[in-house]
Amino acid sequence: MFVYIIRTLIFCHLQTSFLFQACTSINYITLNNEMNRKSQNESIILTLEPAVTIIVDDKVAKLFDGLFNLSYPLRSLQFINTYTVEIEPDFLNGQEVDSIIIQENNIKVIQTYTFRNHKLTFIDLSRNGIQVVENLAFANLSNLEVIYLAENELTTLNSKAYENLPRFEELVLVKNCITQLGPSSLDFSQTRDFMLSLSHNRITNIAEDAFKGSNATDIHLFLENNLLQQISVNIFHNHSFLEVRLKGNKIRKLTGNLEVQNFKILILRIDNNFDKQNLRSLLNWTFRNNITLLDCETSVGTNINNLAQPVQLQKGFSINFEIFFVICFGWIVVT
Ligand SMILES: *[C@@H]1O[C@H](CO)[C@@H](O)[C@H](O)[C@H]1NC(C)=O
Ligand SMILES: *[C@@H]1O[C@H](CO)[C@@H](O)[C@H](O)[C@H]1NC(C)=O
Ligand SMILES: *[C@@H]1O[C@H](CO)[C@@H](O)[C@H](O)[C@H]1NC(C)=O
Ligand SMILES: *[C@@H]1O[C@H](CO)[C@@H](O)[C@H](O)[C@H]1NC(C)=O
Ligand SMILES: *[C@@H]1O[C@H](CO)[C@@H](O)[C@H](O)[C@H]1NC(C)=O
Ligand SMILES: *[C@@H]1O[C@H](CO)[C@@H](O)[C@H](O)[C@H]1NC(C)=O
Ligand SMILES: *[C@@H]1O[C@H](CO)[C@@H](O)[C@H](O)[C@H]1NC(C)=O
Repeated sequence: MFVYIIRTLIFCHLQTSFLFQACTSINYITLNNEMNRKSQNESIILTLEPAVTIIVDDKVAKLFDGLFNLSYPLRSLQFINTYTVEIEPDFLNGQEVDSIIIQENNIKVIQTYTFRNHKLTFIDLSRNGIQVVENLAFANLSNLEVIYLAENELTTLNSKAYENLPRFEELVLVKNCITQLGPSSLDFSQTRDFMLSLSHNRITNIAEDAFKGSNATDIHLFLENNLLQQISVNIFHNHSFLEVRLKGNKIRKLTGNLEVQNFKILILRIDNNFDKQNLRSLLNWTFRNNITLLDCETSVGTNINNLAQPVQLQKGFSINFEIFFVICFGWIVVT
């Protein structure tokens, strides 16, 4: 994310200093409400000069419907460290924007209908102290691909918060306080490819039907640095995973039905806290199911380390951004 912001700034700087007509309206505006002397319940965002990115640099206690009065679409809208404590439902009504970043604020609850019926592709709500994401907080977002809820205080993954998100493919819940993964946790996923990132939480238990109802066939499941002591292989049955990361737990054995083979895992990353017998059954199970085992130092057999490429986070978004950059660059060269 940080890299993205830096790149945006550099990009905008390049744009404003070297070119003018190419990609007209490529710039960013830092809004500071102090200068406008507007009260907190009036539209503060009303620049007439079209901008691509608006970075609000001021106190905005509440994001509400009517905050925006722009007659043009935005690529990115950013509220970072703006002392925001509340986001009202439907606050983006009528404002077209591609990505929204609301970080480092103090928002305890993401309410029902906060983001709905909108063309957003990327939502970043990291580092806001969020404790609850209500049902239908994200609904009917036809283009939405990524939601970041990293570094908040969530204790559960509320699968009912995500409704009708046909392109949703990445949910990042890294560094929260989630204690378990309940039944049908991913039943909202409609895309083939889905990345669920739950690293650095406090998960001790995963329901055997955690992935029931999920249509994703290429799941990336990141569970590093949690508190798992055992894992039932039944959670994988009838599902297909490209990568499962379990390092940084204290898993001592696999439970569940080790004979069932109606599932697929391409790469499993796990560290070895297994005693001899459990290690043998892990190796047998991975071997019989064609699972590539990484990072697991074994005293019994071979020791395969770090062969796979790390999976790129934020893929869709950064690719879109590259394409956008290339198109603009091409345009500059032409003009
Ligand atoms: C903003 O708040 C003030 C006082 O709190 C109120 O008088 C005014 O009508 C409000 N304006 C709008 C647009 O809601
Ligand atoms: C929005 O801006 C237009 C001018 O662009 C103005 O006429 C209108 O009153 C504004 N609406 C609000 C709610 O501020
Ligand atoms: C989603 O869209 C459908 C069809 O347009 C509509 O019936 C439903 O009420 C919408 N849901 C929300 C939460 O707005
Ligand atoms: C998953 O696929 C089934 C069958 O194609 C479909 O009925 C269901 O709505 C899909 N679920 C989601 C969340 O897309
Ligand atoms: C997996 O699918 C089979 C049929 O395709 C079904 O009988 C079985 O109950 C399913 N298992 C789980 C764990 O969902
Ligand atoms: C692996 O497990 C299967 C079934 O549990 C068993 O038949 C087979 O002998 C085991 N293979 C090894 C090498 O232990
Ligand atoms: C594992 O790979 C072998 C060889 O490609 C194949 O015959 C076998 O069916 C595979 N087993 C599973 C469980 O996918």
